[in-house]
Amino acid sequence: MKKFKAEEINELIRSRRSVFPKDYTGEKVDDAIVKQMLENANWAPTHKLTEPWRFVVFTGEGLKKLAAFQSECYKQVTQAKGTFDEKKYEGLKTKPFECSHIIAVAMKRDEKKSVPEWEEMGAVFCAIENMYLTATAYGIGCYLSTGGVTNYEEAKEFFGLSKEDKLLGFLNIGMPKGSPAEGKRKPIEDKVKWINLP
Ligand SMILES: Cc1cc2nc3c(=O)[nH]c(=O)nc-3n(C[C@H](O)[C@H](O)[C@H](O)COP(=O)(O)O)c2cc1C
Repeated sequence: MKKFKAEEINELIRSRRSVFPKDYTGEKVDDAIVKQMLENANWAPTHKLTEPWRFVVFTGEGLKKLAAFQSECYKQVTQAKGTFDEKKYEGLKTKPFECSHIIAVAMKRDEKKSVPEWEEMGAVFCAIENMYLTATAYGIGCYLSTGGVTNYEEAKEFFGLSKEDKLLGFLNIGMPKGSPAEGKRKPIEDKVKWINLP
C-alpha cells in the first residue's frame, strides 16, 4: 500500500482552523480550489456507498440570492413565532458578502433508507472535514456555520431538498488575512481507553 508523508498530513490536520469572515480579506478564492474541495468531499467514507452529501455553492451574484432568501425565511418563521430579532435578520442579510463562497451542505436521504440517518449525517460531516482540510492545504480560510436557517423546514425547498433530507450547515469560505491562532484541545489521553489483551 502506498505511503504518504505522514508528518505533513499530521501537521495539516493540526493546523486546520476555523477561520471566520471577520478574518477574510474580501478577495475572491479561485473557483478551481473550491472545486477541489468539493471533489475531495466526494471521497468521504460512506456506508453502502449511498454518497449522501449534497452541496449548493453560492458565489458572486449567488451570494445575493442566499442573503435575500435566508433573511426573509428567518423573518417569516420567527415573526410567526414571535421570536424575531432585528440584529439576526440584518446579519443574515449582510454577512454572506464577507465571504468569497458559501457552500450549503446537506444530507440527501437514501430512498431505500438502507442505513440509519445518523450514519448518513456522519458521512456528510466526514465530507465537510475533507473540505476543511483541502482549504487548509491551499491556504484558504473556512468555517462551518450551523446557525441561521440550518434547522428550518421552510428552508429546504430553496436548497432542492425534500422532507426526508437535512440541511446541515453552511461552509463559509474566504481568503484569510493572516495565520490563525493556534488551536486548543484537551489531551487525547483523557478521551481514550486502551484495552490490552495479554
Ligand atoms: C458540527 C459543527 C458545527 C459548527 N457550528 C458553528 C457555528 O454555528 N458557529 C460557529 O461560530 N462555529 C461553528 N463551528 C466551528 C467551531 O466553532 C470550531 O470548529 C471550534 O471553535 C474549534 O475550532 P477549530 O475548528 O479552529 O479547531 C462548528 C463546527 C462543527 C464541527
